[in-house]
Amino acid sequence: MENILVTGGLGYIGSHTVVELIENGYQPVIIDNLSNTKIDVLERIERITGKKTPFYREDVRNIEKLQQIMTEHDINGVIHFAAYKAVGESVEEPLKYYDNNIGGLITLVSAMEKKGIRSIVFSSSCTVYGEPDVSPVNENSPIKKASSPYGNTKQIGEEILSDCPFLNTIALRYFNPIGAHPSGLIGELPLGVPNNLVPFITQTAIGLRSELTVFGDDYNTKDGTCIRDYIHVVDLAKAHVKAVDYIKQHPDKQFDVFNIGTGNGFTVLEIIKTFEEVNQVKLNYTIGNRRAGDVEKVWANTDKAKNVLEWEAHLTLEDMVRTSWYWQKSLATQP
Ligand code: WQD
Repeated sequence: MENILVTGGLGYIGSHTVVELIENGYQPVIIDNLSNTKIDVLERIERITGKKTPFYREDVRNIEKLQQIMTEHDINGVIHFAAYKAVGESVEEPLKYYDNNIGGLITLVSAMEKKGIRSIVFSSSCTVYGEPDVSPVNENSPIKKASSPYGNTKQIGEEILSDCPFLNTIALRYFNPIGAHPSGLIGELPLGVPNNLVPFITQTAIGLRSELTVFGDDYNTKDGTCIRDYIHVVDLAKAHVKAVDYIKQHPDKQFDVFNIGTGNGFTVLEIIKTFEEVNQVKLNYTIGNRRAGDVEKVWANTDKAKNVLEWEAHLTLEDMVRTSWYWQKSLATQP
């Protein structure tokens, strides 16, 4: 049995990945400081998988505890999700982001080095491409200067890992993860007002927000709204299992990076329209100003993930908006 330490394993992407790891015969061990999720997620993972998962309420910056857990569970590899991810907040509080996202990574990798653990899958982001000159972007497309401290932590994180020859690293550059587990038991738990499009849509549809503002319709796209590559979080979770499998099969490979998206771009208005049609709900929205820092359009070339990792997305935009809505409705009935 392979024991995989999952940092941030009760978060949105982490929890879905823990489920996929278990369903593929891995034994995950979770550490999470609960800074952006709730402990109930642990029991929900158990309800989905029928398995109990070891959990530690710990911070990745606690090196002693990390080493203790690595030894106790005979950890073979790590998937590192634990990080802050709010772009706007990172501009307000840059050191909070550098401390947690970079400090946490360095602590984790130091603990791995001490324990002789080589395998790590790192959560990176399409944000490293900034506003690309052309889409789809592939893994060799230029890395643009980060537009926020958050984005910079992902660029620096990749660089730190690629500079560590004692590791076997796969960095996954996520595009825009949305959707939720089909069980309705786990999904995204945004604290406060959501920054991201789909949680804002579902909260508006259920009446928690009065209206959605579409941030600009004067972009150079077919309907004037921005284009993104939305990917179902369950497909994204499966990419992590493939990455862990791949590292096991290629122990001599030091560092590699993969785009994880569907390869399709959709506009904000297309997301809204699909959400309304699939779920048969009317969404109250208006067109507003552009949001500072938004990229006009970006979507992935996913050939490398398909050919090398043998992973590709299977779930559709309909699956994404249907499960997002199912999750929002099931949240409404939770205590
Ligand atoms: C998508 C589209 C908005 C809200 C961000 C981070 C990125 C990544 C994912 C991490 C854009 C529009 C949104 C709203 C809107 N990382 N929108 N009204 O900006 O592509 O990516 O999250 O976690 O690093 O930058 O995602 O969901 O915020 O926006 O019109 O109320 O929806 O302008 O075109 P984004 P998003």
